[in-house]
Amino acid sequence: MTHAEAAARAEFLRTELHRHNRLYYLEARPVISDKDFDLLLRELQGIEIQFPDLLTADSPTQRVGGAPIEGFTQIRHTVPMMSLDNTYSEEDLAAFFARLQKGLGREKIDCVIEPKVDGVAITIRYENGVLKYGATRGDGQTGDDVTVNLKTIKSLPLRLPKEGPQTFEVRGEVFMSKAVFNKLNQEREEAGEQLFANPRNTTTGALKQLDSKITAKRPLDLVFYGIADATGIEVQSQADMYALLDHAGLRKADHIWRADNAADLIAAIRDLDVKRKSLPYETDGAVIKVNRFADQRHLGVTSKAPRWAIAYKYAPEQAETTILAIDIQVGRTGALTPVARLEPVLVSGSTVSNATLHNYEEIERKDIRIGDRVIIEKAGEIIPAVVSVKTEKRTGAERSVVPPTHCPICGTGVHRDEEQVVIRCLNSHCPEVVKRRIEHFVSRGAMDISGLGESVVAQLVEIKLVKDVADLYTLNELLLARLERVGTKSIDNYLKAVEASKKQDPYRLIFGLGILHVGAGGARKLLEHFGSIDAIAVATVEELTQCPDIGSIVAPSIHAWFHEEENIALIERLRLAGLNFIQNVVEAASDKLAGTSWVITGTLSEDRETIADTIRANGGKVSSGVSGKTTYLLAGNDAGSKLDKATKLGVKVLAEPEFRAMLA
Ligand code: IVH
Repeated sequence: MTHAEAAARAEFLRTELHRHNRLYYLEARPVISDKDFDLLLRELQGIEIQFPDLLTADSPTQRVGGAPIEGFTQIRHTVPMMSLDNTYSEEDLAAFFARLQKGLGREKIDCVIEPKVDGVAITIRYENGVLKYGATRGDGQTGDDVTVNLKTIKSLPLRLPKEGPQTFEVRGEVFMSKAVFNKLNQEREEAGEQLFANPRNTTTGALKQLDSKITAKRPLDLVFYGIADATGIEVQSQADMYALLDHAGLRKADHIWRADNAADLIAAIRDLDVKRKSLPYETDGAVIKVNRFADQRHLGVTSKAPRWAIAYKYAPEQAETTILAIDIQVGRTGALTPVARLEPVLVSGSTVSNATLHNYEEIERKDIRIGDRVIIEKAGEIIPAVVSVKTEKRTGAERSVVPPTHCPICGTGVHRDEEQVVIRCLNSHCPEVVKRRIEHFVSRGAMDISGLGESVVAQLVEIKLVKDVADLYTLNELLLARLERVGTKSIDNYLKAVEASKKQDPYRLIFGLGILHVGAGGARKLLEHFGSIDAIAVATVEELTQCPDIGSIVAPSIHAWFHEEENIALIERLRLAGLNFIQNVVEAASDKLAGTSWVITGTLSEDRETIADTIRANGGKVSSGVSGKTTYLLAGNDAGSKLDKATKLGVKVLAEPEFRAMLA
């Protein structure tokens, strides 16, 4: 084959493969067998090996990329990726429609209603008809370039049809279908691996992989609902956009409704609530948008969300199931918490087999018994809870549970804290308690030692490499080589993270020690007040109460902790390991935020403590609750009750980009 012949054949094969891909994944009407598809693909691969210059970025052979990448580069969005305001009732939805009518000064407003897909927001850009990049939302202004991972999504065209916009940027949602999720979890269960919590988290995890081969093993899909840029084509409405998506071979929602009055709008969201149960992806609501772009522009946007769209969230789904057993979970402070093991049941698209029961008093109050039929409810991230017992379904075979008198792990007699309804195992060597303590110490808000996940911590404790947090600093390659299923690369990463943690701010260490009642905020106050861990250690209860936010319950707890022989020794070992005990006097970065008081909520690009540090370094104050004194609420994704409260109190709400802009 000459080079010219090969070039022509390669182009023919690419076009054919793209066409078959579309027929298979988008239109679900394949015209050739999988085997014939593979033959075409292999022929193309052969040509590309023989003539490497003929390999193109949009070649169907390039769906699973080469070597893992080091990290994601950042992409600045051409148009910011905004989020949506939420409503939870039909009344609020009617009020939204009334606002549209007022804003546009007319009675009938053409709207579209789409399912709100519960996945991960994405932007995809085509230039010269070829997929250029795909990025996550990030902070709305810049996101991660996840192109290699997105290319593994078979329904995503790598090139656009010749006719049509050649520069085209579209917005959509990446998801894992309910079917794929269930199959994946079934395989994991069989392999004895930890199950994925829900499709959305699994999607996030798959997209964040640095090795696209792993992403490819967790099949994802996409739907598109918006447009950020299109050249050489007239797009005047959402409806126009749907036609463009169809033409480009980009998938849109399976059902889309139209309504131009409040009654039809409400009928549509009710219909969607029925249909969504049989959609292939999880949905948590409906998105209502004004159809015409001219109207959208007229209505405009707020700092956070467009005024021309709203999300209507459905009430969390409930299900009925049976309580098979009530087990005891051991927490970091030794708290013994009852957990209901359930007959697995599908709620909001994922299988639920555990529910939290909070404490034994709740079990008593709700009269929950083993064998009971119960109603459980799941709202988003939250672990499902038992809402009520179907007492009318009792057979008499149900068994009440009695609060434990001994720790189920180490057998030590428990301590019952009357006021707090908490039952604790006070054995500081109880293996479960030790695991929880270490998990807390390495967590993001504390010492932030990444990579030390639950299973590694469990192994470290079980093979007795680690019995307390100071032991983490005695680990080396040789010792870690005894861990099972942990590669040398991971070991190297742990050791680096452990080393880096020595320089952490000492309040993180105090918080990480897990002293009863001392949260991150309290730990920070302690260091601001005392200046060093040693000063805290020798303070009397009275001196401790002089510290802001440290009251009559916390002070004795801190005092007692530092006077326990074992803890004194622990502190000395941490000192010897070279951990930072002294509060660095942070030079104020600026006084740009002087006189302002902040509350942080929702998911942001960095953890809250880090953002709080930034605010303080620039002269601002940070508190935990919204009040009349709050100047700004910094709201990330999935902001909840604090956002509602701020709105009610008229506190100014800022999105992260605006906050960053204030500091720039
Ligand atoms: S429109 C300008 N339509 O929901 C706002 N968003 O809570 C653009 N989402 O960030 C969003 N399905 O990730 C829109 N049919 C849909 C959607 C949808 C899911 C997500 C999207 C957005 C989030 C807002």
